[in-house]
Amino acid sequence: MDVTAAVFREPGQPLTIETLQLAGPGPGEVLVKVVASGICHSDLHVVNGEWSSPAPLVLGHEGAGIVDAVGDGVTTVSPGDHVVLSWMPYCRRCHYCLAGRPNLCALVESTAYNSVMLDGTTRLSQDGEPVYSYLATASFANWAVVPETAAIRIRDDAPLDKVSLVGCAVATGIGAVANTARVRMGSSVLVVGCGGVGLSTISGAVIAGAGQVIAVDINDSNLERARALGATHTLNSRTEDVLAALPGITGSAGVDYAFEAIGLPTTIELAYDALAPGGTAVVVGQVAEGKKITIDPFVMSDREKTLTGSNYGSCRPPVDFPKIVDLYMNDRLPLDSLIERTIDIGEINKAFDAMVRGETARSIIIHQH
Ligand code: APR
Ligand code: ZN
Repeated sequence: MDVTAAVFREPGQPLTIETLQLAGPGPGEVLVKVVASGICHSDLHVVNGEWSSPAPLVLGHEGAGIVDAVGDGVTTVSPGDHVVLSWMPYCRRCHYCLAGRPNLCALVESTAYNSVMLDGTTRLSQDGEPVYSYLATASFANWAVVPETAAIRIRDDAPLDKVSLVGCAVATGIGAVANTARVRMGSSVLVVGCGGVGLSTISGAVIAGAGQVIAVDINDSNLERARALGATHTLNSRTEDVLAALPGITGSAGVDYAFEAIGLPTTIELAYDALAPGGTAVVVGQVAEGKKITIDPFVMSDREKTLTGSNYGSCRPPVDFPKIVDLYMNDRLPLDSLIERTIDIGEINKAFDAMVRGETARSIIIHQH
């Protein structure tokens, strides 16, 4: 079938809206009518060349839609089911999947991370030439064939435009708090970076019962969003000294937990330096290839600081996505305030420009069919 997609051809160039061909779902795969797709900073990392990627490529990894057809052997979804797309189409067989850590799936690392399906091939093409699908998701197209484990069934009454965000930003942010760090009630939490991922981390901290939620950004409008979501304190790191301000807020040397949700070495170091003794810093943002950080290992042992990473919020998508959707539907999670605007796919490059300016929470593409 023909699909309309935003196509990445080379770094630094705008995406182009093109017609591509999509093969039907193979064994263990699912054809999804993609209703909505969020635009994430990870897509931008590829567009601007900070992460290398094969081309031509359809980006987009934060989508939701309706199952249209299933391939042989698919048992967990049927045509008509509403699904949130997951960019972690785990294999169910490797060591990590069997250990309950599908976000570390070994097969994903060698396939979807290289923008091919789990069998190493692609379903997208143009005039017979293969087109790659980012993270085997490719939600910047109005139809997608994804592995069965990337199509996570959710309740039918949830608005697909809103819950598309669960597929990346929200699972990543809430999961970092609930699954990776397991924040304890009453703790102090610092969140550095208040884009889609950081704001979701703030929501996770509020839900976890953090005593203080301190939001840091360089953009005041994003800090206002953070406060609306329940941040108790906001600091603009362009004009305020975050480390100097923390003792006055927490009453101790720093915070119990710090989450970095940008992907810059300097802000990862800030998150680590902000910890009180015994605290845990979680790297949620993903840095450009090859970047390094510097920390003081004496302080690490002497003050028992922990520095850890979180990939996809340590989520198990079929377990966590429906729960997160329930939180939203039960008014426990204000997803709507993560959304800046909805757009047509033709406006996608403008949405990336807005992200570069740091102006935006999420832009959501509503696909036409
Ligand atoms: N200090 C503080 N805040 C900053 C700084 C800085 N030096 N630089 C950028 N920011 C803020 C921006 O103003 C914006 O609010 O960080 C936020 C980043 O938000 P987005 O660009 O929307 O990124 P998001 O999609 O939330 O992803 C964040 O997580 O999954 C990863 O790859 C993703 O690395 C990215 C990170
Ligand atoms: Zn993402």
